[in-house]
Amino acid sequence: MEISNLFWIMLAISALVFIGVAGAILLSIFRFSARPAAPEPRQVAGDRRLETLWTIIPFVLLIFAFGATVKGITDINTPAKGGQPLDIIAMGHQWWWEFDYPTLHITSSNEMHVPAGVPLHIHVESYDVIHSFWVPQLARQLDANPGQDNPVFVKMDQPGTYAGMCYEYCGAAHAWMKFETVVQPKGQFDAWVKHLQSPAARPTGLAAKGQKVFLSNTCVNCHSIIFPGSRAAGGVGPNLTHVGSRWAIGAGAASNTVANLMQWVHQPSSLKPGVNMPGYPLLSQKDLTALATYLHSLK
Ligand code: CUA
Repeated sequence: MEISNLFWIMLAISALVFIGVAGAILLSIFRFSARPAAPEPRQVAGDRRLETLWTIIPFVLLIFAFGATVKGITDINTPAKGGQPLDIIAMGHQWWWEFDYPTLHITSSNEMHVPAGVPLHIHVESYDVIHSFWVPQLARQLDANPGQDNPVFVKMDQPGTYAGMCYEYCGAAHAWMKFETVVQPKGQFDAWVKHLQSPAARPTGLAAKGQKVFLSNTCVNCHSIIFPGSRAAGGVGPNLTHVGSRWAIGAGAASNTVANLMQWVHQPSSLKPGVNMPGYPLLSQKDLTALATYLHSLK
């Protein structure tokens, strides 16, 4: 908001200057062109009044632009009014985003839900290399640097879903580092938080078989699924406790369907070239189907 206001102010000033200068040039061309046999015009070189005037006008304009820019810089680093800001850690990974809500004790992947009208304090960080956090409607591009908190104060008033992406080349799958920002009315946001705080659904039928496949393979080394009585707690890859409810898999690489989940586990690089997750080409078709059904059931 502050950046866009500053942009319009600068554009208005520049437009006025442009119209003034272009108008003066056009006026000179048509009104004051030399006519045949006209006398020599009055010479104004070294006119002190004119020299002073065209030094002072740009000086005043530049001082104003400087002041407005400094105010903009201060404003975007000031918490928005409307109560205690909600802390969100946006952690870039090769190649997905982790969203931690330390005060709410939840973690989401590639999906950042925020309550509308509530001030946010987003801490952009990186787990590995330099990424860049960008939701065009939310804020400017923010570098995600390893070991460094790059915070920003923002507020989203308009409920809706806004696309986000990584804006800094960070390796092979940089293009598949998308995420969604879901701005919700407070009530819906609270329901989402409650949903994420709850453990995974208890699987039945084919999904129950899929859970066994999940637990008996190396999935658990990297992913966590929190369910009653047990807990697979790998922290390298995205948390899968509610993976079935996400908008996409592979940070936007494919839509969230059982068939795509099967292909993903079988050979992730076929959907997302360069991805760090290894494939499981030796899993039988039956096991793959059960596993994908299980993951998709984790709403
Ligand atoms: Cu992360 Cu580009």
